[in-house]
Amino acid sequence: MQFIDLAAQQRQQLPDGRTIREAVDARIAAVLNHGRYILGPEVEELETTLSAYVGVEHCIAVASGTDALLIALMALGVQAGDEVITTPFSFISTSETIALLGATPVYVDIDPATYNLDPAKLEPAISNRTKAIIPVSLYGQPADFPAINAIAELHGLPVIEDGAQSFGSEQKGRRSCGLSTIGTTSFFPSKPFGGYGDGGACFTNNSELADRMRRVSRHGQARRYFHTDIGVNGRIDTLQAAILLGKWPNFPREVEARCRLGAAYSRKFQAAGFSSTPHLSEGNTSVYAQYTVQVDQRAEVQALLKESGIPTSVHYPTLLSQQPALRNVHSRSSHACHLPVAQVACERVMSLPMHPWLSNDDQDRVVDALVSATSHTPIPAAA
Ligand SMILES: Cc1ncc(COP(=O)(O)O)c(C=O)c1O
Repeated sequence: MQFIDLAAQQRQQLPDGRTIREAVDARIAAVLNHGRYILGPEVEELETTLSAYVGVEHCIAVASGTDALLIALMALGVQAGDEVITTPFSFISTSETIALLGATPVYVDIDPATYNLDPAKLEPAISNRTKAIIPVSLYGQPADFPAINAIAELHGLPVIEDGAQSFGSEQKGRRSCGLSTIGTTSFFPSKPFGGYGDGGACFTNNSELADRMRRVSRHGQARRYFHTDIGVNGRIDTLQAAILLGKWPNFPREVEARCRLGAAYSRKFQAAGFSSTPHLSEGNTSVYAQYTVQVDQRAEVQALLKESGIPTSVHYPTLLSQQPALRNVHSRSSHACHLPVAQVACERVMSLPMHPWLSNDDQDRVVDALVSATSHTPIPAAA
């Protein structure tokens, strides 16, 4: 069994009868024929397609989900000495990009049910140096944007949704990446809308920010060889945009399958008496970039599952506030140290095989193996 089966993806049939592989091959051939490898017509086609899907006015396709965050922060003018509030429970990019600009990540603990930034703890973390807030829509479910946006608005702060794991999910009928000032996502191959290489995108309804993000992603260039902003080389390759367009017609079905399989996992686990399954907040859908449970004695459970041929992974074993690369970056140490909910999560979470082509039989095998492994690992002695 594979954790994510990307080879199976290429064999999927699109609504027009071709396989994804055939559609992607045709798209690649078209790029090789026209030869516009940088900012070719596929980039704009991808941006138009994705902004319509998300329901926002602007999409800027960029080189990765990390670049999308960096470009969003640069476009907002975040610089050395500023603070950006974020979650300690995420992939390194969320904090790395803040630190790259010389700004300081200020961490707010997470909600124990959803693993997303806890809005109830947000306000005390805001200072007169705060320039932005980056909630992450972790594992595929949007963070609590109504609550976060309301607090941000009171303080005049922009909110960047790191939607690397949640592209395709919804909150009260609105799509992830269109839920705040800026939404960013990643097209890393294993992501819900993954390409076959690196890619990412920024989304916004704010035309001025969109112009700035586009410029910043292209060396800050206002017109040929005239640079008004410090920028980066953050463009998506035409070839990667073409690959994503080839895969696009299947995406709605993949989202539907992810939602269905995630719900089926939870039903099966609960029927088997295993209850620490993901919690979906009211009004949210999840694309289950990861299907993540909590277990005692995680290493032992992982070893037992491995013996049964079931791969698992941990997202994430170390808080961002404790990453060696970031330890010296925290100025307001109380916000870097007191993160008890996130600390427990990183000791207990474990992600299971999850992708849109996971068979019913394989899902049953995972459920049986996990239920059996958790009933066979000895209960730890009380502290
Ligand atoms: C939450 C989160 N943010 C940002 C990123 C960075 O995306 P990329 O790998 O495309 O740079 C990832 C990718 O793993 C992620 O999971």
